[in-house]
Amino acid sequence: MTTATIKQEIAALRTIIKQHNYQYYVLNAPTITDAAFDMLLRRLQLLEQAHPDFTSSKSPTQTVGVQAQQQFNKITHLSPMLSLDNAFSKNEVADFAQKLADRLAITTDLEYVCEPKIDGIAVNLRYEYGELTQGATRGNGSIGEDISANLKAISSIPQRLSGKNIPALVEIRGEVYMSYAALTSLNNSARATGNKLFANTRNAASGSLRQLDVNITAARSLSFFSYGIGYIQQDDQPFNKHSEILAQLQSWGIPVNPIMAIVTSINEGMAFFTSLADKRDNLPYAIDGVVYKVNNLALQKQLGATTRSPRWAIAHKFFASEALSQIQCVEFQVGRSGILTPVAHLTPTIVGGVTITKATLHNMAEITRKDIRINDIVTIRRAGDVIPEIIGPVLAERPVTVTVINLPTYCPACNTVIKPQLAAAYCTAGLSCPAQLKRAIQHFACRNAMNISGLGPQLTELLLKHQVITDVADLYALTLNKIVDLPQLGKKTAIKLLQSIAQSKNTTFARFLYGLGIPQVGEVTARNLAASYNNITTLSAADIAELQQITDIGLTVATAITNFLTTAANQQTIAKLLTAGITWHSTPITGKLALTGQSFAITGTLSSMTRAQAQELLVSMGARLVTHIAKQTDYLIVGQNPGTKLERAQQLGVKILTEDQFVSLSTV
Ligand code: IVH
Repeated sequence: MTTATIKQEIAALRTIIKQHNYQYYVLNAPTITDAAFDMLLRRLQLLEQAHPDFTSSKSPTQTVGVQAQQQFNKITHLSPMLSLDNAFSKNEVADFAQKLADRLAITTDLEYVCEPKIDGIAVNLRYEYGELTQGATRGNGSIGEDISANLKAISSIPQRLSGKNIPALVEIRGEVYMSYAALTSLNNSARATGNKLFANTRNAASGSLRQLDVNITAARSLSFFSYGIGYIQQDDQPFNKHSEILAQLQSWGIPVNPIMAIVTSINEGMAFFTSLADKRDNLPYAIDGVVYKVNNLALQKQLGATTRSPRWAIAHKFFASEALSQIQCVEFQVGRSGILTPVAHLTPTIVGGVTITKATLHNMAEITRKDIRINDIVTIRRAGDVIPEIIGPVLAERPVTVTVINLPTYCPACNTVIKPQLAAAYCTAGLSCPAQLKRAIQHFACRNAMNISGLGPQLTELLLKHQVITDVADLYALTLNKIVDLPQLGKKTAIKLLQSIAQSKNTTFARFLYGLGIPQVGEVTARNLAASYNNITTLSAADIAELQQITDIGLTVATAITNFLTTAANQQTIAKLLTAGITWHSTPITGKLALTGQSFAITGTLSSMTRAQAQELLVSMGARLVTHIAKQTDYLIVGQNPGTKLERAQQLGVKILTEDQFVSLSTV
């Protein structure tokens, strides 16, 4: 390697590592594994050691990658902030249009609004009597982070709505983004001051928005486009079409993207897509597709939404970007259940504006099918936010140095012999395998389980490495003394961690069960189990046949539960957790509150609570939750924009409760 190429590689590694630090510490969204990160850092360390002329005090090998963890208050959105389904080809768009026609039982074309899909950060702006009172990130769709002060610092977001028809309460949805020009100037000054560079406008927008110091947000050039209303009181809802909403937003002084079209067929929409794809590179900001939305609001309502996305809209993504890279090595990552996943480490390559350093190879069968080898030059593809994909090797350029990728005989984390199975290979060591243990702890701490905020993968690894914890229960025995001197862990972070661990002790039985990571037990199953059993003792006493009486639990799940609960190591961990003081309130099921044994399903969006809150409430009243409507289902609670469950319930004669009826039932 020449000096110039070494210098280049060092510079590239520093940029990439700084970016990953940022992903991890600021965005809380690492995009590579800790092991992959360590490999990058190690490579940089080696190069710097071999070429001391290039060392720099600003190199990530010299700085501690910990940036103050940001804490924002949580805000519950008045209606969920949904995502969009994606279409990657015109065929998929045509399928979407056909499905709509089938659902609506029509044969004529529909009118759509076509809008650019802005590649930024979704936000929710609450205006009360025209005044901007609150702004939030999307978060998990139901609960976001309060970034009101930051949003108020964006000059294109008005503090007051202007003009007529100002509603008492409205939630305006849109995208905060950064222009390419703003990113370039931000990165230029970051480079000059040795600060972090942002890999793309989206990361830059996100990093600039989620700042505790609002002055930083104000100094970054951020912009905003609104694409709709999330919530408005019924009395203030005079709109018949989505395009009328956009016009109203604009006349209130809210920025709406001028690039949009109202089309009278999906084919016309796809023509808009083609012409926008041509103009895409000349736009001053990043877009990654076109969103087609049924214009008629009554039809939107009729079509409804799934829990994830509305049925009346779809994002047609621009062609996936492709590039060539080279496989440097293949790492086998061990998942929570012990499954080994091969991950290719690539020569850092920019694809569609983002630096790609790794791609999953899924499993050994995929590797064989595609004939991928170490050192191969490969075509990689990135479609939007989808994990990069390796399309295959460029055989014409196969280097002589290629070597075959072999499944390891032993687990890379614990040396246990790997059990190769048809579809996947497993490490069978369970929680005695450090990789599985680390993932189990991460799962236990995750937002929907015990919700221990701040316990990210690196901190978990640090605690495990220094043996201050050896299982999840040890978290509750941590003290400031035990952790304050750990390298890279400041006193503030240590205190915050202890606080969130202490807070997590007061939980629900459903969250606790979910957090245990029982194979096959997701959130809904955990809630259903918690509805039937108040505590571990009664649950552990249930046999497979009894468990199968519970909604949605079949033989496989019931067997997985009993296997887990009868394993001595798991019993010990559970006992340790309970001794540590984990408690949950079991609402006494009495009198009018008792819905014991009754099965409930929910459809549509509830306005007074999130779906998760409604489910918790139902469970606390003894109800069973079901995801599918059957004849035996007792009640269906219907919110706004109900889905097909409503139709089915009507056909099967299942009793229907409006949200108001449900709320009054729960407050008797
Ligand atoms: S409509 C209920 N329109 O894309 C439908 N979303 O992948 C809400 N986005 O979370 C979304 N431009 O943050 C809509 N013109 C546009 C958009 C747009 C960007 C984002 C939005 C959403 C994400 C879904």
